[in-house]
Amino acid sequence: MSDRSQLISTGKPFQFDSKRDAEFERLVKRYPTRESMILPALWLTQEQEGWISAEAIAYIADRIGTFASKVFECATFYTMYHLQPMGKYHICVCRTLSCWLRDKQAIVDYLRDEIGIEPGQISEDGRFSLEEVECLGHCGTAPVVQINGEFHEEMDVDKLKALLAGLD
Ligand code: FES
Repeated sequence: MSDRSQLISTGKPFQFDSKRDAEFERLVKRYPTRESMILPALWLTQEQEGWISAEAIAYIADRIGTFASKVFECATFYTMYHLQPMGKYHICVCRTLSCWLRDKQAIVDYLRDEIGIEPGQISEDGRFSLEEVECLGHCGTAPVVQINGEFHEEMDVDKLKALLAGLD
């Protein structure tokens, strides 16, 4: 999960499904230039596939009418874009000050000991991936965990255990 300089090819063409296609067309009308759609298009791709492949970068560039290198620059600059497949449940644990002071480490330790993943790893069964991230902007309710983009606040090990037990 660490090398952000390389794109991975799936060997298969990529395109938006009908839902993302419609969303792309809805959003593109909001912006003064089509290039403004690079970040939203990357989000739509990640929402659809869980990550962003080399083929998706080429598709977005073509769809927007820009250079693939521009899309690549955005995708590699922002760490929230995944450039390789993640676990079915991608867990982000905030490691910045408020969450650190309120024992985010207990959560990371639990995931390491019980699920068997360190930050930057994907579990062997592909079910979970773990990433430590910078401030998620909910410092008043630290420690904060995001699972597939959904916020879980004032987390502790017991709450996390219950949350994970409820996942399919
Ligand atoms: S420090 Fe964790 S959400 Fe801000």
